[in-house]
Amino acid sequence: MLVPSCPEINEVKKPVSRAISVVVIGRTLSQQERACLRSASQTPLSIVAELPNAPQAIEEVHRLRPQAALVMINGDLTTNFQLVERLCKESPETAIVCSSENSSPDVILQAFRSGAREFLRLPFSETEAAAVFTKIAQTRVLGTGELHLSRVIAVYSSKGGCGTTFVTANLAASIARLARKRACIVDLNLQAGDQPLYLGLEPNYSIYDVVRNFDRLDDQLLASYLTHRTPGSQSLSLLAAPNEVGRDEDVSVNHINRIITMLRAQHDYVILDPQHTLSEITVTALDAADDLLLLLTLDIPSIRSAKRSLDIFSRLGYDKKRIKVVLNRYTKIPEFEISQIEKVLETSIFAIISNDYPSAIASINVGEPLVQSKPQSRLAREFMTLASRLSGIKAPEESVSDQKKEKEKKWLPW
Ligand SMILES: Nc1ncnc2c1ncn2[C@@H]1O[C@H](COP(=O)(O)OP(=O)(O)OP(=O)(O)O)[C@@H](O)[C@H]1O
Ligand SMILES: [Mg+2]
Repeated sequence: MLVPSCPEINEVKKPVSRAISVVVIGRTLSQQERACLRSASQTPLSIVAELPNAPQAIEEVHRLRPQAALVMINGDLTTNFQLVERLCKESPETAIVCSSENSSPDVILQAFRSGAREFLRLPFSETEAAAVFTKIAQTRVLGTGELHLSRVIAVYSSKGGCGTTFVTANLAASIARLARKRACIVDLNLQAGDQPLYLGLEPNYSIYDVVRNFDRLDDQLLASYLTHRTPGSQSLSLLAAPNEVGRDEDVSVNHINRIITMLRAQHDYVILDPQHTLSEITVTALDAADDLLLLLTLDIPSIRSAKRSLDIFSRLGYDKKRIKVVLNRYTKIPEFEISQIEKVLETSIFAIISNDYPSAIASINVGEPLVQSKPQSRLAREFMTLASRLSGIKAPEESVSDQKKEKEKKWLPW
């Protein structure tokens, strides 16, 4: 058994299930609209899918069971309201919110008569969106229970060589072990994916196969293209990048969106390793992430590059709560105080991973994440702590003794 059983897992909190899951139907949202919705609601909002195609929407909403479905009314009104009626009938646990530029009393009345629970005028106003989603969040609290909602984590760095692939592999393995949940890595380095190397895998299939068979893609087919870290176990799997030159060319934003949506429904955690350049595909991955880990190392080019990324995220309207700065390969050096870096970046550092080249390279050479090959190493424990902070599940070591906690605090400055 590759994933050893953990002695005691204490679920301290479940940030995963506190977010409101939303599916958008009728069209995709603009960056601005997405940002407005995300920042409006006090309860975190997780846009789990955008489904421009209405017939597909009914099936997907039924499968994903989101908290809310946002129907962007466009085209023929009768067709739109028929869709709302079917959604209400087939997924009664999902709150339907209609949205339109046409907010005439007639349209609003028709929306409510079809079964919509709320109406949001376009363009969105933060106040109105906040009121609508707060109400939906409260209904859930009073409702029958918590929804299962998986989490998408992107590990990104705008500069190469900061350790994104290594951190993605080790974080995913740590989350799978800690939470005893299904974690799936998607290698979005479409021209030169290294994940198989870091995980000791030899994938038979890749994103290329998904794209090639996109017209008949369903959960089962997608699952068959994943490579499992332990044969027969779903705990840690990989959707590999194509391993032959030129096979990335046909991969589009639409493919990546749908792949992430489908993997979300099948896994508890989907962990993305996007490429460094801010291509359309990278932005799609970052948009989809509930947690966006921005990696940097302790050198001027990397700090500058991280600062630039934060500026870009701000321009893209990304909610600051989603962005978590992670300092990788950390060694204490007098020239770089953590507080100085935080001042430059104008944000606090969420986590620090030590520099331990011998352990890192040994793990890569044997193709085994540290949580499996060297679980007692400092790096492995740091990855477990990071996994714990992101999942909200206490690492077993954390409950050992207060004394040890205090000791750890001295070298883990969070
Ligand atoms: N915490 C760490 N301590 C020591 N070495 C590390 C650490 N993290 C990563 N490395 C090393 O840094 C090197 C680059 O790591 P990795 O391939 O993950 O970076 P990357 O950002 O994915 O690079 P690329 O630009 O090629 O995609 C690897 O040799 C890895 O062993
Ligand atoms: Mg890489």
